[in-house]
Amino acid sequence: MDKLTMDKIVNVCKQYGFIFQGSEIYGGLANTWDYGPLGSRLKNNIKDAWRKRFIQENENSYEVDADILMHPTVWKASGHVDSFSDPLIDCKHCKTRHRADKLVEEYDKSINGDSFTEKELVKFIKDNKVPCPKCGKSDFTDIRQFGLMFETHRGVIKDSKDGLVYLRPETAQGEFVNFWNVQRTMRAKVPFGIGQIGKAFRNEITPGNFTFRTIEFEQMEHQLFCKEGTDTKFYKFYKEYAMNFLKDLGLNTDKLRYKDHEKLAHYAKEACDIEYLFPMGWGELWGTHNRTDYDLSRHQEYSGKSMEYTDPDDNSKYIPYVVESSVGCDRMVLAVLCDSYDEEILENGDVREIMRFNPAIAPYKATILPLVKKYHKELAQELKEKLSKSFMCSYDETGSIGKRYRRSDAIGTPFCITIDNDTLDNNTVTIRDRDTMEQVTIKVDEIEDYINNKIKF
Ligand code: GAP
Repeated sequence: MDKLTMDKIVNVCKQYGFIFQGSEIYGGLANTWDYGPLGSRLKNNIKDAWRKRFIQENENSYEVDADILMHPTVWKASGHVDSFSDPLIDCKHCKTRHRADKLVEEYDKSINGDSFTEKELVKFIKDNKVPCPKCGKSDFTDIRQFGLMFETHRGVIKDSKDGLVYLRPETAQGEFVNFWNVQRTMRAKVPFGIGQIGKAFRNEITPGNFTFRTIEFEQMEHQLFCKEGTDTKFYKFYKEYAMNFLKDLGLNTDKLRYKDHEKLAHYAKEACDIEYLFPMGWGELWGTHNRTDYDLSRHQEYSGKSMEYTDPDDNSKYIPYVVESSVGCDRMVLAVLCDSYDEEILENGDVREIMRFNPAIAPYKATILPLVKKYHKELAQELKEKLSKSFMCSYDETGSIGKRYRRSDAIGTPFCITIDNDTLDNNTVTIRDRDTMEQVTIKVDEIEDYINNKIKF
């Protein structure tokens, strides 16, 4: 297969119903994307897999589903009101706007722009005469900080400051502010975790690369509340836990790497990203952060409510440390799509497109195919109805069997079940495997167990 490009993935997603341009019939709204029938199933299956690992199988972990709109003081306490911004710089010549840190990174790929202060960025751009990517001139304005939070207003008086609320830029704060509610109602003992999956919004200046960086996206975040001194152990644990999750989903290990943060946020003790090699290059996929007791201390300070936990074993009191594991759901879907897409040239010269999804996250688990519509349709439809009670199935009666296999492979369905005369005579079906194209014959009443065993995560 030729080198995969982002354009190719965008086209495949559009063609097969994974992801469409947002508001397409109105010419689209830049950097918004709608998940189609296959994309939304894929995304939900990825969320289910995360939920299974991070909540169900993770001892002492609880899920919450907090509102997107939170008390505005939450964002003062979190530090977002004061410092959640990007360094913006304008080209005086062609008037285009850029992120100064990205400009520097583009100029010298070995640099992490994030590790530069504002002054250092300006100096670097001037000293090296970093060119504008649009017009090539090096004549920029000073840097201005641009707030990334979306503001909106509640109530009837639009301009009243009292009604100012923010669309949350991360789900994490919903977990911190519910620390006590979860601890009390679940009678949870530290260490315990709170996770959630939900929408976040950021007014990104340079969105792009399909769904990699958008202004509306979903996060899957988990906060582990632990005692100081155990934090580094848990930090290491969650770094590996995240990597193992990605490997178990089947992502190519050559395209995954850890990248420790060079410049730590003022509250972070340790921080590391897992990066994935997307078609446009390495990009952050998943962050693990040792956030110390910063979050709960800040909420204690701003809310006036004590965040101290009393250890029932020795009555000691302390504000728990937090180890955060945070991944963008849309970015994960994108990584999975890029990683799974494959093309094979068949003996007859045809190109077989395949989405090699882990069966656990494939949108459909099986395609039911009547060999001859006239004779096998009724039984095939009966089987589809029966199997649909257990997992997502599709039904395809149009075209040759070969063509139907191709369609099923292209959307990543791991199994094709063919209904033929043997089904009528002996109650057996053939099941074809997407990856090996091998076929096995099994009894109709064994299908459910056969597939259920193969789609476990
Ligand atoms: N609570 C910590 C936090 O939000 P982050 O590194 O800003 O940390 C976590 O975001 C993850 O969310 C990222 O690793 C990325 O996968 C995803 N993410 C962040 N901004 C995004 C955006 N604009 N579009 C899509 N995904 C994004």
